[in-house]
Amino acid sequence: MKKLLVLTGGGDCPGLNAVIRGVVKRASLTKEWEVWGSLEAYNGVLSDKVEIIKLSGTSVTAGIHAKGGTILRTTTKGGPFNWPVIQADGSWASEDRSDFLLSRLAELGFEAVISIGGDGSQKISQQLFEKGLNVVGVPKTIDNDLSATDYTFGFQTAVQEASNAVDKLVTTAESHHRAMILEVMGRSAGWIALHSAIAGGAEVCLIPEIPYDIDKVVERVNSRYCDGRGFVNIVIAEGAAAVGGQVSAQESTEVGYENVRLGGVGNLLARQLQDNGCTADSRVTVLGHLQRGGSPTAFDRVLATQYGVKAFEMVLAKEFGRMVAYKNNDIVTVSLDEATRDYNYVNTDSYLVQAARGVGISFGD
Ligand code: F6P
Repeated sequence: MKKLLVLTGGGDCPGLNAVIRGVVKRASLTKEWEVWGSLEAYNGVLSDKVEIIKLSGTSVTAGIHAKGGTILRTTTKGGPFNWPVIQADGSWASEDRSDFLLSRLAELGFEAVISIGGDGSQKISQQLFEKGLNVVGVPKTIDNDLSATDYTFGFQTAVQEASNAVDKLVTTAESHHRAMILEVMGRSAGWIALHSAIAGGAEVCLIPEIPYDIDKVVERVNSRYCDGRGFVNIVIAEGAAAVGGQVSAQESTEVGYENVRLGGVGNLLARQLQDNGCTADSRVTVLGHLQRGGSPTAFDRVLATQYGVKAFEMVLAKEFGRMVAYKNNDIVTVSLDEATRDYNYVNTDSYLVQAARGVGISFGD
């Protein structure tokens, strides 16, 4: 039997299990491939004690396609090119363990790897491909920030969760005559904020791609507040910032975690509104990881299943160094190089942004 390794890396996202199930079920039809899973991305292979599990047909039954999270667990720390090593003084430094990874994969007899991950994971896959690894990528992230695919799975689920939150905040905003601020995820791209602001009928949407002018935000809030409606809903992406301002973030103290930890912009905005003549009282809700947990929507299950099946078929066809993608309602493949070249920012000239403006949403510009 030939051996294939599957892993999930980066932040989790609804639909990961549906991809794993798609790979395993499709592979089982060939009766020539064994599928194994590495626990916590490549860490299962890189750790002193190898942690890989065999994925048989039965390990992916019991409806795992409908479950959130990942049966293979995941991590946002470390990786083959940045393995964290604790120093004598207690600090940590990164070590390149990619050569060790490749030799261990060969030792374990793996002929190919399917790596399910976001922008960072796909960049790692590209680097490993350049070093000779037979790797296929599957795009995941709730942020929808990979440009080579129209949608990453998990995004629709996150948007649904955020839209449900706006719907709930509308009713309490109305009861109390308040400005409700909802902070959603979106590190550098405001896709979740934009979609949920339109779906939920918010009046203000603040995204990383459009630095906001607080006076313009106050103007929109006050006009809406004073026009007899008496309540306002604002959706703000965690990576949004005022013109000339910084993103709200803190350095992480977690060993191996290289990102800054975003958060706090909702509360900052509430203070800015108060200090700049906003007449409405405000309250802040941070939706946080509720956007990442739980069951995927039907759309994400279907997309993730197609990705899983296609990724395995790419292994069969030896289409390595490529990523499965969803383009114009079809499943296609793109090179990992192309997939990681451009970041998928919200196009501020797009019809989506125009439509948002058309229903009176202010971006604070
Ligand atoms: O990249 C996806 C994402 O959900 C970002 O929007 C967010 O900033 C980040 O993950 C949070 O990561 P963590 O779970 O590591 O705090």
